[in-house]
Amino acid sequence: MAILITGGAGYIGSHTCVELLNAGYDIVVLDNFSNSKLESLQRIKEITGKDFLFYEADLLNRKIVEKVFESTEIEAVVHLAGLKAIRESVSKPLHYYHNNVTGTLVLCEVMKEYGVKNLVFSSSATVYGVPEQVPISEDFPLSALNPYGRTKLMVEEILRDLFVTDGSFSIALLRYFNPIGAHKSGKIGEDPNGIPNNLMPYITQVAVGKLKELQVFGNDYPTSDGTGVRDYIHVVDLALGHLRALEKVMSSTGVEAYNLGTGTGYSVLEIVTTFQEVSGQQIPFLISDRRSGDIATCYANPLKAKNELGWVAERGIKEMCRDSWEWQKQNPNGYVVENHIPI
Ligand code: WQD
Repeated sequence: MAILITGGAGYIGSHTCVELLNAGYDIVVLDNFSNSKLESLQRIKEITGKDFLFYEADLLNRKIVEKVFESTEIEAVVHLAGLKAIRESVSKPLHYYHNNVTGTLVLCEVMKEYGVKNLVFSSSATVYGVPEQVPISEDFPLSALNPYGRTKLMVEEILRDLFVTDGSFSIALLRYFNPIGAHKSGKIGEDPNGIPNNLMPYITQVAVGKLKELQVFGNDYPTSDGTGVRDYIHVVDLALGHLRALEKVMSSTGVEAYNLGTGTGYSVLEIVTTFQEVSGQQIPFLISDRRSGDIATCYANPLKAKNELGWVAERGIKEMCRDSWEWQKQNPNGYVVENHIPI
């Protein structure tokens, strides 16, 4: 029996593969490399000393998805494959709906075909839209402000409807806040295509000299220092949250949403200051206009995950900054294929 991890070569996916392998699970990875590199799978093997099956495939290719389920007995699916750049989703909505929603529909149809009913789905705090208050709980109103967020919200609704027709499904909807950091080895980490949209990879690329300076998107928000406040969570804590959710879905039925956050918010300038302290690197920045679509403050109430999954984020902001820097320092150009000796 194995766990299928879609998007397993990606930032969240690679860290989740490591924690599932370390926990003794057999895994199968499916990834189309639209936002990841094959090299990350080699690094996973180096970190864990374990091998695993891998399919370079797109969820839209039903024949290959069926081949995966035909070839290996799949016990559960951790579904992380998806496009996640908000601004790109605004300019390419059909691409996002097709990839994120149709891809999930194909996956769910094949899961039903092969009697696989355990699913952990990568959702996002984006489904909360502009929260009325913070901290945010899972029963808050849901709304999406962009096509990317709408794909996450639609998939959550699709999965709830699926459970209504088949009560043997067991589904966890994991609403990520802001994942940053990297495995402590520095062998895997965030390797965005092109200029990073997100704060931490932008900071680390300034620190390593690839980018000149950070633009701070607005300092006139109603926050402690005027800059945006977010709930940054170490990607290893996030990966461990997937492990707990997997254990939950394999021992119950139903559909439950869980916030995966620390419950603490940090401002942009607090992140910059902390990163400078732990890395010893100066991060030049300039204050620019707000980024359209940004909200002032967003952080989780993570109690439901603590009570129902037995999961709490343990790594602090300094460790997040230190591990992000270690990854970028060791991999200034991200995953570059070198001559490595396969395990
Ligand atoms: C964080 C803060 C920016 C870049 C997004 C998605 C969310 C999830 C994580 C997928 C904000 C500020 C950023 C920069 C800056 N992705 N910032 N300069 O927007 O909270 O969340 O990514 O699930 O769905 O919405 O993350 O890292 O882009 O921004 O000042 O160059 O950093 O304004 O306050 P965000 P982020």
